[in-house]
Parts: sequence; C-alpha cells; structure tokens
Amino acid sequence: MQHEVRGVVARKKGQPVSVETVLVPDPGPGEALVKVQACGVCHTDLHYREGGINDEFPFLLGHEAAGIVESVGEGVTEVAPGDFVILNWRAVCGQCRACRRGRPWYCFDTHNAKQKMTLADGTELSPALGIGAFVEKTLVAAGQCTKVDPAASPAAAGLLGCGVMAGIGAAINTGAVTRGDSVAVIGCGGVGDAAIAGARLAGAARIIAVDVDDRKLEWAKGMGATHTVNSRQGDPVAAIRELTGGFGADVVIEAVGRPETYEQAFYARDLAGTVVLVGVPTPEMKIELPLLEVFGRGGALKSSWYGDCLPSRDFPMLIDLYLQGRLDLDAFVSETIALDEVEDAFDKMHRGDVLRSVVVL
Ligand SMILES: NC(=O)c1ccc[n+]([C@@H]2O[C@H](COP(=O)([O-])OP(=O)(O)OC[C@H]3O[C@@H](n4cnc5c(N)ncnc54)[C@H](O)[C@@H]3O)[C@@H](O)[C@H]2O)c1
Ligand SMILES: [Zn+2]
Ligand SMILES: [Zn+2]
Repeated sequence: MQHEVRGVVARKKGQPVSVETVLVPDPGPGEALVKVQACGVCHTDLHYREGGINDEFPFLLGHEAAGIVESVGEGVTEVAPGDFVILNWRAVCGQCRACRRGRPWYCFDTHNAKQKMTLADGTELSPALGIGAFVEKTLVAAGQCTKVDPAASPAAAGLLGCGVMAGIGAAINTGAVTRGDSVAVIGCGGVGDAAIAGARLAGAARIIAVDVDDRKLEWAKGMGATHTVNSRQGDPVAAIRELTGGFGADVVIEAVGRPETYEQAFYARDLAGTVVLVGVPTPEMKIELPLLEVFGRGGALKSSWYGDCLPSRDFPMLIDLYLQGRLDLDAFVSETIALDEVEDAFDKMHRGDVLRSVVVL
C-alpha cells in the first residue's frame, strides 16, 4: 500500500519550497513508517534548497523530527508500532571500519530506507539527510528511530534529531568540555546555543557567547552563557582573551561555518586548547593559517559531525535530563508553524528572528 500525504519539497535550486503530494510506500524489510508529529527548521534544510549540499533535486526537506512509529517491515525488532521516537541520521551499520574499531559515532555507512518516497507523478524524492520529515508520514530505516520517553513534547524532542544534538555533542563529545573549563561559542543560533547548554551541563565555569546580533546574545544568556561578546563592536579574539585571564578559552566552538569565524576560534583558544568546527562551510571557502601557529599553539583542531553522537546512547539520556528540568529543550522552540509556513520560517531564520521554528503536524 502507498500512503498519500503532504510534504515540503524543494524542486529547484534557490526556488521557494512548496507543499506537494508525496507517496510513501509501506515499510519493507528493516524499514519503519513514522507518523511525524514535529519537525524543526534547520539551516541545513536551507542549504539543500540553495543547492549547497548536492544537486539531487527534488528534495523532501525536514530532518529534526519526532513522531510515532506506525508500522514496521520484516525483521525489525528495535522499534514497534506505537513507539515514540526521535529520528536520527546516524543509524550505525556495525560493519564499517569505524564501527569495527568501536567508534560507531563516526559510522561511515549509515542506514536509510531502501525504498523511495515519490511525488504523485512517480519522481523519486531525495530526503534531506536521509530522513525527509516535513511530511505527515515518512519512511526511514528502523535504526533511524530512537525510542525515548513519550512524556517529552514532540516539538522539543525532535530538535535533538539534528541541530541541538550537534551543538550539545560538539561541546560534550567532540570538545570533551569538563568541570571548570572556559568555553567560547562563536555563533549563537540553535546549534551554538545548544553548545552553550552542553557546556553548562558539562560543568564549564566560564561560557562566552559570541554573535553579531544582540538578540542572539540575550537568548544565549538564558542557555547558560556567563559572558557575551558582540563581534560587530570589537575584536572577539581580544574580548575572549580578556575574559580568560589574557590566555584564551580551553575550548572554542565555531558554530557559524565561515573562514573568518574559524580563524577567530583558532586564535581565541589557550595554548593546548581545542577548536571544534560544527558550522558547515560551503565548497568555495578557504582558510590560510601560519603553520608555525598551528604547531606552536598545540592542542586539537577538530570537526564535529552531528556532535559525534550515538543516538541510542545520547537521545534517551538527554530526554531524561530534559524531563528532570536540567536541559531546557523548550527554550529552543521559538514558534510552532504549519507545513505551508516553512518558506516563511527560512526568512525568519535568515533575519535571525528565531532559534528554531518547528512544524507541528
Ligand atoms: N556539524 C553538524 O553536524 C551540524 C548539524 C546541524 C547544523 N550544522 C551547522 O551549524 C551552523 C549553525 O546552524 P544554526 O541552525 O544554529 O544556524 P543559525 O542561522 O540559526 O545560526 C547562526 C548564528 O551565527 C551568527 N553569525 C553569523 N555570522 C556571524 C559572525 N561573523 N560572527 C558571529 N556570529 C555570526 C548568526 O547571527 C546566528 O545567530 C550551520 O552552518 C549549520 O549548517 C552543523
Ligand atoms: Zn558503521
Ligand atoms: Zn539539521
């Protein structure tokens, strides 16, 4: 059987998205059909629409989602109909060289649904990050469903499926922030604010938020920033050094994805400190650094893919912290919107009016 549902599709590079009829097949072996309850609007969806990820249009957008498993295909044991799940884009394979070495958070061969969702005329859709969740029902690999406590609000829980996990994980998993650390976060959108929340959870003593927008800095304080720096009003490297005894921060997290902010991160860390790049650059961007500085400053220059998370380990743990009132996921939900408001939400994201707009179905 096919399910005829409505979904948000990017048909052509740079053109406004539209709500289209989407045909979703019943789950085959290893697959699950999920009734989507909520899906956040992430900057990566906009990157897809702009052709910044690849040219495999049309895309079925949306990937930060939570919902209820409606049915499962043959051989699926990890989830069952009725389960409340967060969708992930890291269904680990268990077989690749990363998995075999016991580092499944790097899995190089993650699973997605094998069957394709299509437009009404049969055109195959490319689901964003192998999910595609601005749609009433979506088809994923069963391993892309992580069961969590159904007491959590779907709008808040879904955000762990991408941006919020990427930020928290950039701090906790990749940056290994620990008690007493000084941390600077450059770019305080949904991802950067999540890094701030992660640094607070991990016990960082000093958390410096850097952005070009005062509204973002105000919100960052609510997430746990102890100090704020508007980098339009002065050199952020000097400001971060001044706030850290003249030395720089132990961990600097770049959550913008631009050469100039990466360079700021590079120079704003203390000797032997860590830079974590979680912002996603575009193909034409380049960076030039004195190799002697790369050597002389020591430490680590790391990139964080999806916060180096392991969904089965991290999602249920973070949902528990949320339900205990120790991680305010609701604070990331600036507004809830309908499916046909995704294009407006891109504009609001561009203007910096929101942390996350969340489509609620
Ligand atoms: N690594 C991953 O796995 C992963 C996952 C999700 C998103 N991302 C990426 O993270 C980045 C941030 O995503 P988001 O959803 O928070 O985006 P966003 O647009 O909500 O936030 C970006 C923030 O950066 C600020 N900013 C822009 N230019 C700046 C500058 N020069 N200096 C300081 N701040 C500046 C903006 O004011 C804004 O607050 C994007 O590149 C996104 O693609 C990465
Ligand atoms: Zn693997
Ligand atoms: Zn995302």
